[in-house]
Amino acid sequence: MPVTWHKIASEITEIPFGPTGLVEMEVGGKKVCLARHEQRVYACAVKCPHAGGRMSAGFIDPLGNIVCPLHRYKFSLSRGYNVSGEGFYLKTYPVEHRPEGIFMGLERGGLFSL
Ligand code: FES
Repeated sequence: MPVTWHKIASEITEIPFGPTGLVEMEVGGKKVCLARHEQRVYACAVKCPHAGGRMSAGFIDPLGNIVCPLHRYKFSLSRGYNVSGEGFYLKTYPVEHRPEGIFMGLERGGLFSL
């Protein structure tokens, strides 16, 4: 699937993360949840695939999984895999740290396109 890269920020410090390291932002016209863990940025869907919990209101556990605030299901920030084992999948987006800034990829022309 072709991907269009959108610049999120020049530096990680420009992203207005809350105290939990999470924030909702619009990137390329799409609202996403951004997460910061160990100086890397990750991007995932705004809503939990289980029952629509707002992922940015959750938190990140020490292993780098995002935890939904509603029923505490955990998802891998890098792959969306439901590490707590309930069988759901959280949509994630690729993020690249480049010399010229931090970029997020959005698929073009697919199910998740604009
Ligand atoms: S809505 Fe996220 S775990 Fe239930």
